[in-house]
Amino acid sequence: MSWIDLTGKVAVVTGAMRDVGLDRLGGHDVVSAFVEDLMPRLTGDPTLAVYWKGKSRDSMRKDKQLLLEFLCMAFGGPSAYLGRDMKTSHEGLGITDDEWDVFAVHAVATLDKLGISGSEKSEFLAAASSLKPDIVEVPR
Ligand code: HEM
Repeated sequence: MSWIDLTGKVAVVTGAMRDVGLDRLGGHDVVSAFVEDLMPRLTGDPTLAVYWKGKSRDSMRKDKQLLLEFLCMAFGGPSAYLGRDMKTSHEGLGITDDEWDVFAVHAVATLDKLGISGSEKSEFLAAASSLKPDIVEVPR
């Protein structure tokens, strides 16, 4: 676990994410395609849609941009992330373990669609899992 101080806020990024490496994934454009494909899957899922209900189109654009910047930063890219750390931004949402699993199925589907496979895929998923303790609040 390492700590990066950005814009006066402290973002926690796991070594697992940095180790994946942005370039190995295909760089900013591939991560952007990942976010563009993943977000509609999440917001369109009947189990998860509640989390984004009532958000304007522009707020969704902002959320997508923050996710993109977070992932690029966390995978070791040069981009700055100006959002909140994962614990702060998910605290109080009450995300459950089961909902995390639904999210993970969508993440796998997106990786498959983009042709991210092999060690990149498994390391990407391991990196996501390393953030789970900060995101899931209701364990099984
Ligand atoms: C590894 C997995 C995840 C990552 C990397 C991630 C990343 C992010 C980022 C970067 C933000 C924006 C932070 C900010 O506004 O400053 C955010 C917000 C949010 N995330 Fe996640 N997230 C993950 C998983 C999830 C899951 C599984 C859910 C729901 C099932 C979820 C629901 C939300 C919601 C609703 C917000 C908006 C919170 C608000 O506006 O107050 N996230 N996430």
